[in-house]
Amino acid sequence: MLTLKKKTADILEAAVKAGFGEGILSAADIFAMLEYPPDRSMGDLALPCFKLSKALRRSPVQIADALAAAVKCEEFSEVSAINGYLNFKINPASFATRVVSDVERLGDKYGSPMDGVGKTVVLDYSSPNVAKPFHIGHLGTTVIGHSLKLLHEFAGYKCVGINYLGDWGTQFGKLIVAYKMWGDKALIEEGGVDELVKLYVKINNAIKDEEEQGITTLADQSRAEFKKLEEADEDNLALWRWFVSVSLEEYQKTYKQLDIEFDSYKGESFYTDKMPAQVQLLRDKGLLEIDDGASIVNLEKWNMPVCLILKRDGSTLYPTRDIAAAVYRKGEYAFDKAIYVTSAQQSLHFAQWFKVVELMGY
Ligand code: ARG
Repeated sequence: MLTLKKKTADILEAAVKAGFGEGILSAADIFAMLEYPPDRSMGDLALPCFKLSKALRRSPVQIADALAAAVKCEEFSEVSAINGYLNFKINPASFATRVVSDVERLGDKYGSPMDGVGKTVVLDYSSPNVAKPFHIGHLGTTVIGHSLKLLHEFAGYKCVGINYLGDWGTQFGKLIVAYKMWGDKALIEEGGVDELVKLYVKINNAIKDEEEQGITTLADQSRAEFKKLEEADEDNLALWRWFVSVSLEEYQKTYKQLDIEFDSYKGESFYTDKMPAQVQLLRDKGLLEIDDGASIVNLEKWNMPVCLILKRDGSTLYPTRDIAAAVYRKGEYAFDKAIYVTSAQQSLHFAQWFKVVELMGY
């Protein structure tokens, strides 16, 4: 039906051009005006001509009469002007003939709008956090993201499915401390990500207990271990790589069950060396402000809290990585569209850094 609706809009565009002049209404304008009448005895498709009155400077009745006489299409058995409406009745035999031949010609692609041909879309979805549980929210974005990918592929887009693994951040400092204190290599090899999660929960509880007593030993140690990791300490890097691969193995079991594959697993860690250039650009554009030692972008004008770019100790944050990742993907894939599928709790995070990259001129 969509195909016939498009074809009708093309025919009407030509009729308007012939009867009223060039460049007044496009096929897309007319397509948007076409309706399916609620009472099908009136017709299978209808054009309410009052919608054209202003552009054509005629009454709806005059317009409907003029167009009814001009429209010729073998797929309609009748085109009639009634009270300012142009009503179309389908000729079932020719409609069916065309549909069957379209199906034969297009096969699996039948019904595709094909409006993505020559365009690229990157989709960021699933993206669980290493050594943290793959929870129901991740399952949701995995399935929705994959469906959006299939829909775009069907529409002709080149699609890049990206699993933006949460594989960097202070949690790794904590995990390293926990592993050094309580870890058991064999147990993790056996139990996989569940064992890592246990360690992570244990260290978090211990840090909390210390905090209640006004102690910060474990928190300080964690920060120090993460700093070492950021400075490419070989031992910490080896542990980190192992934590990532143990987790990834587990996730991939889930993806296999769902029959979902990703084109890229470039996670947050991939962007560590790509952030400084973006931070510098922010600085050059005068967008960075120092607030209590931290570097921020003030978003007051847009009714949002400040976007944190660098912590007081110079370490980067979640928005900083997302900015670097978006810029990298634009360069790598030259995308026409970038889609992020994530939990609604992150909508402020996204609104903030979308605004920041806009201010940066991207
Ligand atoms: N790792 C994040 C989480 O589990 C989701 C990542 C969403 N994508 C992004 N580009 N920030 O909450």
